[in-house]
Amino acid sequence: MTVSPARIRGRLRVPADKSISHRAVLLGAIAQGVSVARNFLVAADTLRSVACVRALGVDAQLDGTTLRVGGRGLRGLRAPTEALDAGNSGTTIRLLCGVLAGQPFEAILTGDDSIRRRPMDRVVTPLREMGARIEAQAGGLAPLRVRGGALRPIRHRMPIPSAQVKSAILLAGLYADGETTVVEPQPSRDHTERMLRAMGVQTGVREVPPSSPGAEGPREVWVRGVGRIEPVEMGVPGDPSSAAFFWVAAAAQPGGEVVVEDVGLNPARTGVLDALRAMGAAVDVREVREVCGELVGTVAVRGLGLRATAVAGALVPRLIDEIPALAVAAAVAEGDTIIRDAAELRVKESDRIEALVSNLRAIGVDCTELPDGLVVHGGRIRGGRVRSAGDHRIAMAFAVAGLLSERGVTIDDVACVATSFPGFAQALTALTGGRMYGA
Ligand code: S3P
Repeated sequence: MTVSPARIRGRLRVPADKSISHRAVLLGAIAQGVSVARNFLVAADTLRSVACVRALGVDAQLDGTTLRVGGRGLRGLRAPTEALDAGNSGTTIRLLCGVLAGQPFEAILTGDDSIRRRPMDRVVTPLREMGARIEAQAGGLAPLRVRGGALRPIRHRMPIPSAQVKSAILLAGLYADGETTVVEPQPSRDHTERMLRAMGVQTGVREVPPSSPGAEGPREVWVRGVGRIEPVEMGVPGDPSSAAFFWVAAAAQPGGEVVVEDVGLNPARTGVLDALRAMGAAVDVREVREVCGELVGTVAVRGLGLRATAVAGALVPRLIDEIPALAVAAAVAEGDTIIRDAAELRVKESDRIEALVSNLRAIGVDCTELPDGLVVHGGRIRGGRVRSAGDHRIAMAFAVAGLLSERGVTIDDVACVATSFPGFAQALTALTGGRMYGA
């Protein structure tokens, strides 16, 4: 895909939230009855979750973007006859591992090359402590052989905030007698907790006093084991992580403006808007309402010329998936943007720190690699060729870089965009004056 310099202006809806869509399938599968998710994300990652629950005996039907999941109850799943393939999806493999920990049968969980390189010990270790028998490959990697059974509640302290790990433990906690607790150093996205609450499960949060005064304290998230969870009907909001590419593109161009309607505004996901505000963009959030326990609204972003910012600490989990897009905005901002405390980027769909640094340099942007982030020395984006590393968010971030560049940016492989954002090229085309960006 080659993206030429262009002004971005317009209004759009983005595809449904990936995190919430995964949870609609996976939690719906163990509910007692039929759950309905309208505006479900029909994309490669979430279709993996659908295929996996079908292989566990669940009737999951898609009619356009309406998903109906015939939940089989907490203990009604059937042993799969083949390995469950999560494809590229970390959310599928990790959350499913939590569900399988409570099943009285054996299943194998696997995925593509990227998934088989990503750390799974972070879910395997606590789930073993709960009583599940799990075999991993050397280094704690997938494929995983999971044999569930009777589980006991645990109190698990996560070294890094991870919504996937927290969710896996909470889901296993449904099968344990008593209270299972996850301590997270900083808040991570809480879509699982919100959906479980809507399904009648007792779950909540306790703030833990910080170790030093004034510091952000860790939090304990707890769930109580249950006999059943109720089905739900929900409407999935637009994905702020998909909207972020357009917000960043607008913010980075004086005169750029993008309005995204019906987008999710869960506070654990809106760090990118805070960062863009800090960089000098005009961000207007309106028509905020609550839909099925999640905040939804309309967000307009206008570009006024950006200045550098610092991203670290508790802000990081609130914008972790938006760092590729933000790094591109930083490339045209005035000054040095410092992104730290983000070592997790190294174990996402690709090593995103390495991918960002090498691609930014390839298009003429000066930057410095750090073990846990990067420094982007702002200025201009000349343009050139970059590699997506098969990572959807790297591909889309550098499409935005093309708009902001002097000579255009060519991305080697954009098939991966289908992971989370089918229709990205069309949306970009529509907002930049009708030039079609082909793959
Ligand atoms: C996700 C959680 C995040 C995020 C990922 C989706 C989820 O990962 O980066 O894209 O749906 O729970 P962590 O588990 O590292 O928080």
